[in-house]
Amino acid sequence: MHYKSGSQIREDFLRFFETKTHRRVHSSSLVPQNDPTLLFTNAGMNQFKDVFLGAERREYSRAATSQKCVRAGGKHNDLENVGFTRRHHTFFEMLGNFSFGDYFKREAIAYAWELLTSPQWFGIDPARLYVTIFEGDASVPRDDEAEQLWIETGVPKDRIFEMSGKDNFWQMGETGPCGPCSEIFYDLGIEASETGEDKPFPHDDQRYVEIWNLVFMQFDRTITPEGPHLAPLPKPSIDTGMGLERVAAVLQGVLSNYQTDLFTPLIARAAELTKFKDLTAAEASFSDAKGAASLRIIADHARAATFLISDGVLPANEGRGYVLRKILRRGIRHGRQLGQIEPFMHQMVLAVRNEMQAAYPELLETAERVAKVVLAEEEQFARVLSVGSYKLDAALENSVRQAIEPILDGFLSKHRISRPPEENTSMLFWLNPSWSKEDRDRGAKYYLGDLNNGQLESELLAAMDKLSAEPPVLAGPDAFQLYETYGLPRDFIEDFCRDSRVAFDSKGFDKAKEEEQQRARASWKGGSQKSASPAFRELPKTEFEGYTALRVDGARVLALVKDGVGVPALAPGEQGEAVLNSTSFYADSGGQVGDVGWLYASDRHTVIADVSGATKPVQGVFAHRIVAKQAIEVGDVVDTVVDRENRLATERNHTGTHLLHAALRQVLGTHVKQAGSLNDPARLRFDFSHFAQIAEPELREIESIVNGQVLGNTKVETLVDVPIDVAVNELGAMALFGEKYGDKVRVVKIGDFSVELCGGTHTGATGEIGLIKITGENSVSSGVRRVEAISGTGALGEFRRDFELSRVVGQLTGGGDVDALRHKISAQDEELRKLKRELDQMRMKAASASMSDAAGSAVEVKGVKVLAQRVDSLDKAQMRDLVDQLRGKLGSGVVVLGAAAEGKVTLIVGVTKDLTGKLQAGKIVGHLAGIVGGRGGGRPDLAEAGGSEPGKLDEALKAAAEFVGATL
Ligand code: ALA
Repeated sequence: MHYKSGSQIREDFLRFFETKTHRRVHSSSLVPQNDPTLLFTNAGMNQFKDVFLGAERREYSRAATSQKCVRAGGKHNDLENVGFTRRHHTFFEMLGNFSFGDYFKREAIAYAWELLTSPQWFGIDPARLYVTIFEGDASVPRDDEAEQLWIETGVPKDRIFEMSGKDNFWQMGETGPCGPCSEIFYDLGIEASETGEDKPFPHDDQRYVEIWNLVFMQFDRTITPEGPHLAPLPKPSIDTGMGLERVAAVLQGVLSNYQTDLFTPLIARAAELTKFKDLTAAEASFSDAKGAASLRIIADHARAATFLISDGVLPANEGRGYVLRKILRRGIRHGRQLGQIEPFMHQMVLAVRNEMQAAYPELLETAERVAKVVLAEEEQFARVLSVGSYKLDAALENSVRQAIEPILDGFLSKHRISRPPEENTSMLFWLNPSWSKEDRDRGAKYYLGDLNNGQLESELLAAMDKLSAEPPVLAGPDAFQLYETYGLPRDFIEDFCRDSRVAFDSKGFDKAKEEEQQRARASWKGGSQKSASPAFRELPKTEFEGYTALRVDGARVLALVKDGVGVPALAPGEQGEAVLNSTSFYADSGGQVGDVGWLYASDRHTVIADVSGATKPVQGVFAHRIVAKQAIEVGDVVDTVVDRENRLATERNHTGTHLLHAALRQVLGTHVKQAGSLNDPARLRFDFSHFAQIAEPELREIESIVNGQVLGNTKVETLVDVPIDVAVNELGAMALFGEKYGDKVRVVKIGDFSVELCGGTHTGATGEIGLIKITGENSVSSGVRRVEAISGTGALGEFRRDFELSRVVGQLTGGGDVDALRHKISAQDEELRKLKRELDQMRMKAASASMSDAAGSAVEVKGVKVLAQRVDSLDKAQMRDLVDQLRGKLGSGVVVLGAAAEGKVTLIVGVTKDLTGKLQAGKIVGHLAGIVGGRGGGRPDLAEAGGSEPGKLDEALKAAAEFVGATL
């Protein structure tokens, strides 16, 4: 066996298959193109799915790739395991060779065996290898053929094991290409065994590792009303997957993937950046020591985050962005666990780039941007932790109150002791039996205060012992809310609970999470276009003539689809989709929305159907969304007529978007890259990478540049069948990473100002746009801004509205402008404020006037004057003032004011200083609050309370004198 670096293995694999006439194909983006059934690319075959299904053709029938994969979120989720096992990763590379109806089992097996065992290549000792085959089930027979082929290759029969469908029938998902498979395992030797026992294959997962999976693609799995159905593929094909990290472990003679050169430099860098010095990288790559798993997690998550962001994913609160955010935050949290609270993950991005740029050159261009996104997330997460941990404190206090307060209050009221008015909450926590004796004693003393009664203190603590059986607990849904809403990591919450001696309801948390995931899954499905119906798959590509014509005569109806199922005809009034052999309708793509219009009969005046849009459910096949006006049947001949005004309005916006893109790069810099766009008849919307809000003057400059181009009336040229390298390198067209481009591309060129790869339709010259007005600029997610604009007739409409508005302004201000209006409104505001102040003063005066009489009407109880009055028209501040005034007037006595408004009661009690020895305002207000359904407290001379039963206010006021009497 030969030692090989990770990069050598990747290169050897691709070169080996090139010698077997395979085409080397670059990894596709981690964001699957046109496949809403998939969250992230998770296998090499993803980019070839349509080729296997026969819906797409390539100019080669053999291919080999090293594919970027992420398994986190969705069906294959390894996130929580990463760091704690030898072989789990969120991001990994899958080496694969593929045959599209070319070779089948025999060659696939022979190639795999040659690459692994030939001394010229990997040179693995065959005595270390085992293979498995499919044992068969009710619908697919045992794979005798594969077994025979392995034997012919030289594998002894006793090293071939049959396995069930769980292991040896591979399918991409619920639907899609699938087939029986054969796996190759490597025996790492007894030293890899966790138990140290010498168990035979396949009874030790640590020791016998699967390194290569050969899938014999034979079926397309669909779900029918009768259950799952396997339909044969057009041609049997091959899909294989070999985990690069695992093979590296094998060829480098180490037990864990993290010990390979794919990871050790990253682990070393993680240790440097977190200033964690307890372990060397070699130790950290394979150790249970404290901190080792954190370093592995940082290394793994840095790879995943770097590649995901490089492929266009940005941290967000849903979908792919949410998974990315979780990965990043988990990495950051492990850095904190090692003691690093400053941002460091963004530096890991550059380490990943240095390791991987040879194989993935796109990182050279994207890493700086990626690092900025990561830094922004690190800074944001630091803010999250500051808000979130405050919320977490509040939630924990609440849990403690719920468990402890009833016992405490029961005990105190039995002994007629009141709780301290401004309570120190830690004391409440300390009554919990799980704290130390010392802490608990302090808690008990605090509540029993001056009584200094050891007997009572022990009694209180004994009462609290009940809690040993039912301790305070942070309810699962509450914890999940902190996790979901404030982004607090679960283990972070658990640590906090542990520190506060509050139990963590992990079952409740899981349940809340599961419910949320179900909701998310449902909305994920609902939010995207459904996987293409099989009804579209067998159809030939539609001839699109809409670049040059808005009308095509004599198009033939090839298929009608209703609710995803092919139908022979649609009756008048029925909705469905129609596929024709040719069309003038543009279908949704590249941000441009599909055309609307009509299908006409050949008599040229009968409308057969209204068309409300068009899409491409399968590459190259156009589906028109229609409502039939007349009966329409497969085989009918129709004329396709696009709504001209609608199309022209869309084109103005699309060409406008190209101008805007170029102007943004000119003004803001070339880091501006398209992140998404939408061009419909009403407006244009352009999302792009940029870090700050665009200042008003810059926005105006951009608008001026764009309109300068419009006035220049430059011709818009389209060049077709341009080789991709000519388009990018010679014409300077911008290619977007992650987009799937063919070898020949279409280029849209506007003078020397803008060159883009684009399949959309455009105005003939820029002057046709008329005018572009930017209507908004805002943020979509961190690092992505959005500009919206209108053009042509939309801009005219806006201009008309503005014109109308300025006329109204003129009328309101007697010929003045907007400034005059602003002035007028602010003068009126000032006047209103003045009037309100005067009204408040009047009310106050009226109240104190009536009170000065009332002062005389105070009652005397045991020599103390008590004045209780209702003052509904006053607010709290005014009531406080009034209490002061009345105390002054009485000289000595108790003043009680109550007000009821909007279902709420306010009570304020004032006691003159000479009396506070005998009478406390807090006690009085507490008693009265009880009557109106509330609580309250405060200083001995002034106290306030709120209540919820206005109907009881008079009763409460009456009770004041009585209570004072009883207290004295
Ligand atoms: N597609 C196969 C896998 O992912 C090779 O294992």
